[in-house]
Amino acid sequence: MNTFIIFFTFLFPLLHTSTTAQPCPITRCAQNQVPIRFPFYQQATKHPQNCGYPGFNLSCKTQSTTYLSLPYSGDFYIRDINYLDQLITLYDPNNCLPNRLLTFNISGTPFVIPFHENYTFLTCPSEVIKSRFDIIECMSNSTHSVLATSSMRLVSSLVSSYSCRVVVAALPVPVSWPVKEDEEFTAELDGDIQLTWYVPQCGDCEAQGRICGFKSNNSDEIDCFRRLPESSKYLYFEL
Ligand SMILES: *[C@@H]1O[C@H](CO)[C@@H](O)[C@H](O)[C@H]1NC(C)=O
Ligand SMILES: *[C@@H]1O[C@H](CO)[C@@H](O)[C@H](O)[C@H]1NC(C)=O
Ligand SMILES: *[C@@H]1O[C@H](CO)[C@@H](O)[C@H](O)[C@H]1NC(C)=O
Ligand SMILES: *[C@@H]1O[C@H](CO)[C@@H](O)[C@H](O)[C@H]1NC(C)=O
Ligand SMILES: *[C@@H]1O[C@H](CO)[C@@H](O)[C@H](O)[C@H]1NC(C)=O
Repeated sequence: MNTFIIFFTFLFPLLHTSTTAQPCPITRCAQNQVPIRFPFYQQATKHPQNCGYPGFNLSCKTQSTTYLSLPYSGDFYIRDINYLDQLITLYDPNNCLPNRLLTFNISGTPFVIPFHENYTFLTCPSEVIKSRFDIIECMSNSTHSVLATSSMRLVSSLVSSYSCRVVVAALPVPVSWPVKEDEEFTAELDGDIQLTWYVPQCGDCEAQGRICGFKSNNSDEIDCFRRLPESSKYLYFEL
């Protein structure tokens, strides 16, 4: 009997600690979707506020596609999140990224554009342009073609020789690869865009195979925690 009581008074505090230690599940919108974990979280459904960092709230569209809602630019679908290099890859739900870039504004978000190129957008008469340059199909029609180029020389020549009109000049576009100086071509800009974040800085922690999280429930300081095996589905935030 005595042994029994001693056993429980010792064991219970331990059990108690491990069950109330902030369990933040790794969630996904669907099986083939990116894992959502710190600093990202799914505030609306699955994660308490303290499982993620402000501004990293993700959601699921019709239970299958992961998206990020930017305060001034609307929703973007997420192709990938690289937790180690702190890069998030986004694409346009309507498959017309250039159109979204015209009003792209990441103010009020924790994200920054790691690489950019300044593109000028022009609209040109379709009949003289179509066979000569890459046009942005999803913004063009039978009479007007929309082009984008990072070459100021090409902009001048398009305006003077092809009756093009500048729609937006030198718009910073997040690109994966910087364009070489004086390369004269028009781009379809139909790839994905990549953004990075500097805060919270968790790359070093990730590199050790660990995971960042808040130090405690009411702390905004982060710490680097041990990860449980992927199969456990939970990240118990313990050192
Ligand atoms: C998180 O995103 C969902 C869906 O967009 C939204 O309803 C909710 O208000 C957001 N929460 C925060 C804290 O931004
Ligand atoms: C982005 O939107 C904010 C808020 O409306 C505004 O203050 C800022 O000037 C905009 N930035 C750009 C580059 O348009
Ligand atoms: C884009 O334009 C801005 C403002 O004029 C300039 O500071 C920046 O260096 C330009 N970027 C590139 C890649 O040319
Ligand atoms: C083509 O688009 C331009 C604007 O980009 C618009 O003014 C014009 O009416 C459109 N033409 C047709 C045939 O839809
Ligand atoms: C932390 O907060 C969450 C929700 O706000 C709560 O469910 C959890 O029990 C708290 N954990 C601790 C260790 O206080």
